[in-house]
Amino acid sequence: MTAKPLDDLLNWRYATKKMDPSKAVPQEKVDAIIDAIRMAPTSSGTQPFELIVVTNPDIRSKIAEAAGGQAQITDGSHVLVFAAWDNYTTERIDEVVDLNVEARGDLPMLHAYYDNLKSNYLPRDAETNYAHAARQAYIALGIALVAAAEQEVDSTPMEGFDPNTVDTILGLKKRGLRSVVLMPLGYRDPTADWLLPMDKVRKSRDTIVTEVN
Ligand SMILES: Cc1cc2nc3c(=O)[nH]c(=O)nc-3n(C[C@H](O)[C@H](O)[C@H](O)COP(=O)(O)O)c2cc1C
Repeated sequence: MTAKPLDDLLNWRYATKKMDPSKAVPQEKVDAIIDAIRMAPTSSGTQPFELIVVTNPDIRSKIAEAAGGQAQITDGSHVLVFAAWDNYTTERIDEVVDLNVEARGDLPMLHAYYDNLKSNYLPRDAETNYAHAARQAYIALGIALVAAAEQEVDSTPMEGFDPNTVDTILGLKKRGLRSVVLMPLGYRDPTADWLLPMDKVRKSRDTIVTEVN
């Protein structure tokens, strides 16, 4: 596959509404998308989320029910569930420090940096910390959407679901995780997706950009 310009990928992808249930995304393409998620930048490199990759049809049916019956969840072959840490903890941050030591050695500034981060994050309430972690998951979602397009895989970013129900279905609470956003993967059904022929709706550059020179 030759590399496509980013602009083409962004125009090719769309929030797919109808996927073809007869087509499954090959594992190597799923792996490429997962790797892009793993490589996403996060604040202070904490990567404060996990990814649950659901193929099980029964579980996907339950998730679809918690998402107002959105059929992409069951018509696609995979659902990526971005699940953020429910809070920052000493243990979680220490694991990040260990990972840094492993990769780069025990640099003197490392401990001071993460000690400072702990003194900022740990006194905050869990909801504030969860919201911060969830924002990091959204960065990975954005990269995943582009990575899927690069793999010529269709996807739908999804916030339209009940997170508490999905947390229960996947047993996330006991793992200290909360579902943030879903991303079904599959292949568009070109004959049945009403959104496919429609033009993209985007604000003009002037509307969203203020240049301060
Ligand atoms: C965070 C987020 C949540 C979304 N939730 C849903 C959803 O639950 N169901 C859905 O069909 N589309 C959902 N969308 C798709 C948006 O409506 C869509 O991305 C937007 O209208 C732009 O269209 P495009 O992605 O087709 O270019 C969501 C998009 C984002 C980024």
